[in-house]
Amino acid sequence: YPTGPLLAIESSCDETACAILSPQGTVLAEKVISQEAHAAFGGVVPEIAARAHLALLPDLARKTVEAAGLIPSDLRAVAASTGPGLIGGLIVGANFGKGLAIALGKPFIAVNHIEAHALSARLPGVAKEGLVFPFLLLLVSGGHCQCLAVEGIGQYRRLGGTIDDAAGEAFDKVAKMLGLGWPGGPQLEALAREGDPKAFAFPRPLKGRVGCDFSFSGLKTALARQLEPYGNTALPRALAADLAASFQQAVADVIEDRVRHAFAMMEPPTALVAAGGVAANGVLRACLTRIATDHGVPFIAPPLRLCTDNAVMVGWAALEVCREAARRGLLMPDDRRMRPRPRW
Ligand code: KG4
Ligand code: ZN
Repeated sequence: YPTGPLLAIESSCDETACAILSPQGTVLAEKVISQEAHAAFGGVVPEIAARAHLALLPDLARKTVEAAGLIPSDLRAVAASTGPGLIGGLIVGANFGKGLAIALGKPFIAVNHIEAHALSARLPGVAKEGLVFPFLLLLVSGGHCQCLAVEGIGQYRRLGGTIDDAAGEAFDKVAKMLGLGWPGGPQLEALAREGDPKAFAFPRPLKGRVGCDFSFSGLKTALARQLEPYGNTALPRALAADLAASFQQAVADVIEDRVRHAFAMMEPPTALVAAGGVAANGVLRACLTRIATDHGVPFIAPPLRLCTDNAVMVGWAALEVCREAARRGLLMPDDRRMRPRPRW
């Protein structure tokens, strides 16, 4: 178990991030750079992301160590997201972390990025009363859309996930069709505030189906069909707002239905937890709060900076894994030999 500060690294998508945590999980410093080079392409370009991580990470790590008032030799462990994610960025982050750990003679902890999202709500201060297992996690971001039963450290059961697009991906694609910039989710939500969510009767894919798989591509196609008469001409704003509001409502309805099914697929959870960038959406949050209330459990969404990709959750997951190893009387993990994995 680390006896002093740990440096954590996140580089699995388009956020380059470092954080330093105390062994108890106090955040001593954190820095995140959201790469901007992708906006011009309307989505994350893996090769550009990998090169940007390489250019940004060494300096960011040094500045994070300094911001914590430390020097590198004060570190007692190094952790990095080692998968799943975009392989180029993972190679950069994990190898930087391993190199540093080897140079310092300290252990390297390979963190599963999804596990880090799953455990982020257990960070001190996130859940008022603390968060105990089992809990139900809805992970909704640009790359992920799944429900997990989080039953313990290292014990995660995937209850269902998307069979086509991730929720954030659907928001981004529809935002693009409506002429909004990238990432589209927040802009679509803002435009939807001016519109009528009942204006268009979009489909609710998989609603009512057993299990808790998700599908969004049919919804996207239904919206594209509404745009056909306009060709290349600009959409009237009121129409765009109605489309945005109706689309957002359909996504929220689908997620609500799927999450209600997920509740029935596990031992009664202690809480409903949401993570990922889409968890910032107000309409979705209201839906999830309602479901949790119906089940008599709290709805917990970590603050946005912990919901989106960040290194604090990576460091926290590493600490949880080490603590669990100690509890079982096992040695502290050292994953220097582990290779980055695009799927894990
Ligand atoms: O977790 P995240 O920052 O990055 C990864 O995808 O890993 O999530 C970003 C996604 C984007 O697709 C973005 O459009 C979506 O989350 N998003 C939202 C909102 N804020 C971010 N979607 C809907 N409503 C929002 N307010
Ligand atoms: Zn993520």
